[in-house]
Amino acid sequence: MTSAGWISDKVVLIVGGGTGIGRAVVEQFVTEGASVGVLDRSPTAVTELNSLGSAVLAVEGDARNLADHRVAVAATVERYGRIDVLITCAGIFDYFTSLEELDENTIDSAFAEMFDINVKGSMLAVKAALPELKKTGGNVVLTISNAGFYPGGGGPLYTASKFAVRGLMLQLSSELAPHIRVNAVAPGGTVTALRGADALGMSGQQLADVPDIADLIRVTNPLNVASVPADHVWAYVYLASKERTRSVTGCVIHSDGGLESRGLVRLDAGSAAGDVTGR
Ligand SMILES: NC(=O)c1ccc[n+]([C@@H]2O[C@H](COP(=O)([O-])OP(=O)(O)OC[C@H]3O[C@@H](n4cnc5c(N)ncnc54)[C@H](O)[C@@H]3O)[C@@H](O)[C@H]2O)c1
Repeated sequence: MTSAGWISDKVVLIVGGGTGIGRAVVEQFVTEGASVGVLDRSPTAVTELNSLGSAVLAVEGDARNLADHRVAVAATVERYGRIDVLITCAGIFDYFTSLEELDENTIDSAFAEMFDINVKGSMLAVKAALPELKKTGGNVVLTISNAGFYPGGGGPLYTASKFAVRGLMLQLSSELAPHIRVNAVAPGGTVTALRGADALGMSGQQLADVPDIADLIRVTNPLNVASVPADHVWAYVYLASKERTRSVTGCVIHSDGGLESRGLVRLDAGSAAGDVTGR
Protein backbone atom coordinates (compact mmCIF):
# COMPACT_ATOMS: atom_id res chain seq x y z
CA MET A 1 0.00 0.00 0.00
CA THR A 2 1.29 3.52 -0.74
CA SER A 3 -0.03 7.04 -0.24
CA ALA A 4 0.25 7.83 -3.97
CA GLY A 5 3.44 9.83 -3.87
CA TRP A 6 2.80 12.06 -0.84
CA ILE A 7 6.48 12.00 0.05
CA SER A 8 8.16 10.67 -3.09
CA ASP A 9 11.47 12.37 -3.84
CA LYS A 10 11.77 13.69 -0.27
CA VAL A 11 14.90 13.16 1.82
CA VAL A 12 14.19 11.98 5.35
CA LEU A 13 16.54 11.43 8.31
CA ILE A 14 15.21 8.95 10.88
CA VAL A 15 16.89 8.69 14.28
CA GLY A 16 16.22 5.27 15.79
CA GLY A 17 15.19 3.68 12.50
CA GLY A 18 16.91 0.40 13.27
CA THR A 19 14.01 -1.68 14.59
CA GLY A 20 10.37 -1.42 15.62
CA ILE A 21 8.34 1.67 14.77
CA GLY A 22 11.31 3.55 13.28
CA ARG A 23 12.19 0.61 11.05
CA ALA A 24 8.61 0.38 9.77
CA VAL A 25 8.73 4.10 9.04
CA VAL A 26 12.01 3.67 7.11
CA GLU A 27 10.51 0.88 5.01
CA GLN A 28 7.29 2.77 4.29
CA PHE A 29 9.14 5.93 3.30
CA VAL A 30 11.33 3.93 0.91
CA THR A 31 8.19 2.35 -0.56
CA GLU A 32 6.82 5.86 -1.00
CA GLY A 33 9.87 6.84 -3.06
CA ALA A 34 11.77 8.81 -0.42
CA SER A 35 15.51 8.62 0.27
CA VAL A 36 16.23 7.81 3.90
CA GLY A 37 19.20 8.47 6.19
CA VAL A 38 19.20 6.63 9.53
CA LEU A 39 21.10 7.09 12.80
CA ASP A 40 20.90 4.07 15.12
CA ARG A 41 23.08 2.53 17.78
CA SER A 42 22.47 -1.07 16.75
CA PRO A 43 25.29 -2.28 14.48
CA THR A 44 23.17 -5.23 13.33
CA ALA A 45 20.30 -2.98 12.31
CA VAL A 46 22.67 -0.57 10.56
CA THR A 47 24.17 -3.41 8.52
CA GLU A 48 20.70 -4.69 7.60
CA LEU A 49 19.50 -1.23 6.58
CA ASN A 50 22.55 -0.64 4.42
CA SER A 51 21.77 -3.80 2.49
CA LEU A 52 18.29 -2.54 1.53
CA GLY A 53 19.55 -0.60 -1.49
CA SER A 54 20.58 2.88 -2.57
CA ALA A 55 17.54 4.59 -1.01
CA VAL A 56 18.78 3.93 2.55
CA LEU A 57 22.00 5.12 4.18
CA ALA A 58 22.39 4.07 7.81
CA VAL A 59 25.03 5.40 10.20
CA GLU A 60 25.89 3.84 13.56
CA GLY A 61 25.86 6.26 16.48
CA ASP A 62 24.30 7.26 19.78
CA ALA A 63 21.38 9.68 19.94
CA ARG A 64 22.87 11.09 23.16
CA ASN A 65 25.78 12.62 21.22
CA LEU A 66 25.43 15.77 19.16
CA ALA A 67 28.53 14.78 17.17
CA ASP A 68 26.87 11.53 16.08
CA HIS A 69 23.77 13.39 14.90
CA ARG A 70 26.02 15.74 12.91
CA VAL A 71 27.74 12.78 11.25
CA ALA A 72 24.33 11.38 10.23
CA VAL A 73 23.17 14.77 8.92
CA ALA A 74 26.39 15.24 6.91
CA ALA A 75 26.25 11.69 5.49
CA THR A 76 22.59 12.12 4.46
CA VAL A 77 23.26 15.46 2.78
CA GLU A 78 26.38 14.14 1.06
CA ARG A 79 24.47 11.16 -0.36
CA TYR A 80 21.05 12.71 -1.10
CA GLY A 81 21.74 16.47 -1.31
CA ARG A 82 19.45 17.83 1.44
CA ILE A 83 17.09 16.98 4.33
CA ASP A 84 13.34 17.65 4.01
CA VAL A 85 12.10 15.76 7.07
CA LEU A 86 13.58 14.74 10.43
CA ILE A 87 11.90 11.94 12.39
CA THR A 88 12.97 10.79 15.87
CA CYS A 89 12.08 7.32 17.12
CA ALA A 90 14.99 6.33 19.39
CA GLY A 91 13.77 5.49 22.87
CA ILE A 92 14.02 3.15 25.84
CA PHE A 93 11.50 1.97 28.45
CA ASP A 94 11.44 1.46 32.23
CA TYR A 95 9.14 -1.58 32.28
CA PHE A 96 6.78 0.16 34.70
CA THR A 97 9.41 0.44 37.47
CA SER A 98 7.62 2.36 40.24
CA LEU A 99 9.24 5.07 42.34
CA GLU A 100 9.24 2.73 45.29
CA GLU A 101 11.01 0.03 43.28
CA LEU A 102 13.70 2.42 41.99
CA ASP A 103 16.93 1.57 43.76
CA GLU A 104 18.45 4.66 45.39
CA ASN A 105 21.86 3.64 44.06
CA THR A 106 20.71 3.60 40.44
CA ILE A 107 18.07 6.32 40.39
CA ASP A 108 20.52 9.00 39.19
CA SER A 109 21.96 6.92 36.36
CA ALA A 110 18.53 5.55 35.36
CA PHE A 111 17.04 9.06 35.23
CA ALA A 112 20.00 10.32 33.19
CA GLU A 113 19.83 7.43 30.73
CA MET A 114 16.05 7.71 30.24
CA PHE A 115 16.11 11.46 29.72
CA ASP A 116 19.33 11.49 27.69
CA ILE A 117 17.96 9.04 25.13
CA ASN A 118 14.26 9.88 25.10
CA VAL A 119 14.42 13.66 25.50
CA LYS A 120 17.93 14.97 24.83
CA GLY A 121 18.26 12.60 21.86
CA SER A 122 15.26 14.27 20.20
CA MET A 123 16.51 17.77 21.00
CA LEU A 124 20.01 17.08 19.68
CA ALA A 125 18.58 15.58 16.49
CA VAL A 126 16.72 18.81 15.76
CA LYS A 127 19.76 20.89 16.73
CA ALA A 128 21.97 19.00 14.27
CA ALA A 129 19.45 18.96 11.42
CA LEU A 130 18.26 22.55 11.86
CA PRO A 131 20.65 24.21 9.37
CA GLU A 132 19.52 21.76 6.67
CA LEU A 133 15.82 22.01 7.57
CA LYS A 134 16.04 25.80 7.33
CA LYS A 135 17.35 25.52 3.77
CA THR A 136 14.45 23.29 2.66
CA GLY A 137 11.64 24.70 4.83
CA GLY A 138 11.52 21.17 6.18
CA ASN A 139 9.61 19.63 9.04
CA VAL A 140 10.09 17.49 12.15
CA VAL A 141 8.08 14.57 13.54
CA LEU A 142 8.92 13.43 17.08
CA THR A 143 7.71 10.23 18.73
CA ILE A 144 5.91 10.62 22.05
CA SER A 145 3.75 7.81 23.50
CA ASN A 146 0.44 7.40 25.29
CA ALA A 147 2.75 7.79 28.31
CA GLY A 148 3.17 11.47 27.34
CA PHE A 149 -0.52 12.01 28.13
CA TYR A 150 -1.72 9.54 30.75
CA PRO A 151 -0.33 7.73 33.80
CA GLY A 152 0.16 3.97 33.67
CA GLY A 153 1.98 3.71 30.34
CA GLY A 154 5.26 3.25 32.19
CA GLY A 155 6.83 4.12 35.51
CA PRO A 156 7.73 7.67 36.57
CA LEU A 157 10.97 7.71 34.55
CA TYR A 158 9.38 6.82 31.21
CA THR A 159 6.21 8.83 31.77
CA ALA A 160 8.11 11.96 32.79
CA SER A 161 10.44 11.59 29.81
CA LYS A 162 7.55 11.33 27.35
CA PHE A 163 5.77 14.34 28.88
CA ALA A 164 9.07 16.13 28.30
CA VAL A 165 9.16 15.09 24.64
CA ARG A 166 5.65 16.52 24.30
CA GLY A 167 6.88 19.78 25.82
CA LEU A 168 9.87 19.79 23.50
CA MET A 169 7.61 19.35 20.49
CA LEU A 170 5.37 22.26 21.53
CA GLN A 171 8.27 24.56 22.35
CA LEU A 172 10.04 23.83 19.07
CA SER A 173 6.84 24.18 17.05
CA SER A 174 6.54 27.68 18.50
CA GLU A 175 10.22 28.62 18.14
CA LEU A 176 10.66 27.34 14.62
CA ALA A 177 7.45 28.72 13.11
CA PRO A 178 6.79 29.96 10.50
CA HIS A 179 9.46 28.15 8.50
CA ILE A 180 9.66 24.70 10.09
CA ARG A 181 6.70 22.65 11.29
CA VAL A 182 7.16 20.38 14.33
CA ASN A 183 4.59 17.66 15.10
CA ALA A 184 4.51 14.29 16.83
CA VAL A 185 3.03 10.82 16.76
CA ALA A 186 1.97 9.26 20.07
CA PRO A 187 1.76 5.50 19.60
CA GLY A 188 0.02 3.31 22.13
CA GLY A 189 1.26 -0.11 23.24
CA THR A 190 2.98 -1.73 20.27
CA VAL A 191 4.58 -5.12 19.96
CA THR A 192 8.25 -4.29 19.34
CA ALA A 193 11.71 -5.02 20.70
CA LEU A 194 11.61 -1.84 22.85
CA ARG A 195 14.46 -2.21 25.36
CA GLY A 196 14.69 -1.31 29.01
CA ALA A 197 17.23 1.06 30.52
CA ASP A 198 20.72 -0.34 31.03
CA ALA A 199 20.97 1.37 34.42
CA LEU A 200 17.91 -0.61 35.54
CA GLY A 201 19.53 -3.85 34.36
CA MET A 202 16.87 -4.07 31.64
CA SER A 203 18.81 -3.53 28.40
CA GLY A 204 18.32 -7.19 27.48
CA GLN A 205 14.56 -7.01 27.97
CA GLN A 206 12.29 -6.54 24.96
CA LEU A 207 8.60 -5.68 25.08
CA ALA A 208 7.85 -8.43 22.56
CA ASP A 209 9.21 -11.01 25.02
CA VAL A 210 6.64 -10.17 27.71
CA PRO A 211 4.29 -13.19 27.84
CA ASP A 212 0.90 -12.48 26.22
CA ILE A 213 1.93 -8.88 25.49
CA ALA A 214 -0.53 -8.51 22.60
CA ASP A 215 -3.45 -9.58 24.82
CA LEU A 216 -2.26 -7.31 27.63
CA ILE A 217 -2.15 -4.31 25.28
CA ARG A 218 -5.48 -5.14 23.63
CA VAL A 219 -7.56 -4.86 26.82
CA THR A 220 -6.21 -1.40 27.62
CA ASN A 221 -7.81 0.49 24.74
CA PRO A 222 -11.36 0.96 23.41
CA LEU A 223 -10.55 -0.38 19.94
CA ASN A 224 -9.01 -3.53 21.49
CA VAL A 225 -5.98 -3.09 19.27
CA ALA A 226 -2.53 -4.56 19.87
CA SER A 227 -0.65 -2.33 17.46
CA VAL A 228 2.25 -3.43 15.32
CA PRO A 229 4.74 -0.86 13.99
CA ALA A 230 3.12 -0.72 10.54
CA ASP A 231 -0.09 0.64 12.13
CA HIS A 232 1.63 3.93 12.93
CA VAL A 233 3.53 4.66 9.72
CA TRP A 234 0.68 6.55 8.02
CA ALA A 235 0.65 9.15 10.77
CA TYR A 236 4.34 9.86 10.06
CA VAL A 237 3.71 9.93 6.30
CA TYR A 238 0.89 12.43 6.71
CA LEU A 239 2.77 14.76 9.06
CA ALA A 240 5.90 14.61 6.88
CA SER A 241 3.99 15.56 3.75
CA LYS A 242 4.61 19.28 3.43
CA GLU A 243 2.05 19.74 0.68
CA ARG A 244 -0.78 18.28 2.80
CA THR A 245 0.08 19.72 6.20
CA ARG A 246 1.21 23.28 5.59
CA SER A 247 -1.17 24.54 8.29
CA VAL A 248 -0.34 21.80 10.83
CA THR A 249 2.22 22.34 13.59
CA GLY A 250 2.35 21.63 17.32
CA CYS A 251 -0.01 18.72 16.62
CA VAL A 252 -0.02 15.15 17.95
CA ILE A 253 -1.58 12.21 16.16
CA HIS A 254 -2.68 9.66 18.75
CA SER A 255 -2.28 6.19 17.26
CA ASP A 256 -3.25 4.33 20.42
CA GLY A 257 -6.56 2.53 20.00
CA GLY A 258 -8.58 5.47 21.30
CA LEU A 259 -7.32 6.09 24.83
CA GLU A 260 -8.67 9.63 24.78
CA SER A 261 -12.16 8.35 24.08
CA ARG A 262 -12.16 5.80 26.90
CA GLY A 263 -13.51 8.17 29.52
CA LEU A 264 -14.72 6.80 32.82
CA VAL A 265 -15.20 3.05 33.04
CA ARG A 266 -18.81 1.94 33.34
CA LEU A 267 -19.75 1.37 36.94
CA ASP A 268 -22.42 -1.21 36.14
CA ALA A 269 -20.44 -3.50 33.84
CA GLY A 270 -19.10 -6.08 36.27
CA SER A 271 -15.43 -6.98 36.29
CA ALA A 272 -12.66 -4.49 35.59
CA ALA A 273 -11.84 -6.25 32.30
CA GLY A 274 -15.50 -6.19 31.35
CA ASP A 275 -15.62 -2.49 32.12
CA VAL A 276 -12.99 -1.81 29.53
CA THR A 277 -13.59 -4.38 26.85
CA GLY A 278 -17.38 -4.51 27.03
CA ARG A 279 -17.95 -0.98 25.72
N1 LIG B 1 6.54 -0.16 21.68
C1 LIG B 1 5.64 0.59 22.32
O1 LIG B 1 4.71 0.07 22.97
C2 LIG B 1 5.71 2.10 22.24
C3 LIG B 1 4.58 2.82 22.62
C4 LIG B 1 4.63 4.20 22.57
C5 LIG B 1 5.78 4.84 22.16
N2 LIG B 1 6.87 4.12 21.79
C6 LIG B 1 8.06 4.85 21.40
O2 LIG B 1 8.35 4.54 20.05
C7 LIG B 1 9.76 4.73 19.83
C8 LIG B 1 10.30 3.50 19.13
O3 LIG B 1 10.23 2.40 20.01
P1 LIG B 1 10.00 0.90 19.52
O4 LIG B 1 8.89 0.38 20.35
O5 LIG B 1 9.92 0.85 18.07
O6 LIG B 1 11.33 0.20 20.09
P2 LIG B 1 12.63 -0.34 19.34
O7 LIG B 1 13.61 -0.68 20.42
O8 LIG B 1 12.27 -1.40 18.38
O9 LIG B 1 13.15 0.91 18.52
C9 LIG B 1 14.00 1.89 19.07
C10 LIG B 1 15.16 2.12 18.13
O10 LIG B 1 15.97 3.16 18.69
C11 LIG B 1 17.31 2.73 18.73
N3 LIG B 1 17.98 3.36 19.86
C12 LIG B 1 17.71 3.19 21.19
N4 LIG B 1 18.55 3.95 21.91
C13 LIG B 1 19.35 4.60 21.04
C14 LIG B 1 20.42 5.51 21.18
N5 LIG B 1 20.86 5.91 22.38
N6 LIG B 1 21.02 5.99 20.06
C15 LIG B 1 20.62 5.58 18.83
N7 LIG B 1 19.62 4.70 18.63
C16 LIG B 1 18.98 4.23 19.72
C17 LIG B 1 17.26 1.21 18.87
O11 LIG B 1 18.45 0.59 18.45
C18 LIG B 1 16.05 0.89 17.97
O12 LIG B 1 16.45 0.74 16.63
C19 LIG B 1 10.38 5.00 21.21
O13 LIG B 1 10.55 6.39 21.35
C20 LIG B 1 9.31 4.50 22.17
O14 LIG B 1 9.38 5.17 23.40
C21 LIG B 1 6.86 2.75 21.81
